Amino acid sequence: MPNVLLLHGGAGSDNSYTDALNRYANSTSSKISKDPVDFVVESVRLMEDDPSFNAGTGSVKRIDGSIQMDAAVMSNRKIGSVSAIERVRNPVLVAREVMLQTPHVMITGDGAIKFARSVGFGDYDPTTERTETIWKKMVDFFNGKEVELPERYSQYYRYAKIFGFPQQKDTVGAVARVGNKFAAAVSTGGSSPMMRGRVGDSPLPGAGLYAGENGAIVATGIGEEIIKRMMCYDIYTKIGTKPLQDILKEKVEEFGDILVGVIAVSKDEYASYSNNSMATGVSTWP
Ligand code: GLY
Repeated sequence: MPNVLLLHGGAGSDNSYTDALNRYANSTSSKISKDPVDFVVESVRLMEDDPSFNAGTGSVKRIDGSIQMDAAVMSNRKIGSVSAIERVRNPVLVAREVMLQTPHVMITGDGAIKFARSVGFGDYDPTTERTETIWKKMVDFFNGKEVELPERYSQYYRYAKIFGFPQQKDTVGAVARVGNKFAAAVSTGGSSPMMRGRVGDSPLPGAGLYAGENGAIVATGIGEEIIKRMMCYDIYTKIGTKPLQDILKEKVEEFGDILVGVIAVSKDEYASYSNNSMATGVSTWP
């Protein structure tokens, strides 16, 4: 199979995003590199900079109005991730620096912001008019009821459509195989409505992404449910046992009607599957 870069625009993204994703995949793969990390990070960076996706610029706000983002990159068991990071333009670039420059796997919250500044990432507000409008609608709707959130949290997802989710779209992600090496990268503003400090699946290896010597996988959807099922590692362990498309379909079907999607690449296949709309883009090259 040729080298491949496969992107998704999040569970809930429809086919109107396919052209943009194919463009991002093609422009990334035209850059010469032998490292799949370069391809997944660059394509996720492009999606973070596109305000129509829920990652980087255009990330959703939390109930308190803040934007805290999660991102990760993984390749052949090297991992870097950031969680609840604020006021940076490209969380995925910070995650890559965690992988390259620190002995750690994940840096969170204030520490992640401080680390980002120390390696040259400046202050940036990812708010857009669209996410501000959605947040105001959310605040009006709950009318101060967020004090009851712990008891009612699971119910809050049922309001998703009112706030523009999943139309708002979830996490963006990319998987790549270049030669015999694999990489995965992911970035998200999270699944709102959510509390400040809440961390979803995306920065957690095994849950929101996984990349080893047999393949790479990235998930999108309601993070809590993806974490409980350790979705990406579970899929990884099944690579080679049946067609990749069947493995993804079976895993997604375990979620019932809970919003979820996944993309994956193995040595000789690539595939995507979601129980909702999920735009994808792909580029292959020799
Ligand atoms: N899948 C993104 C999140 O739940 O945070």
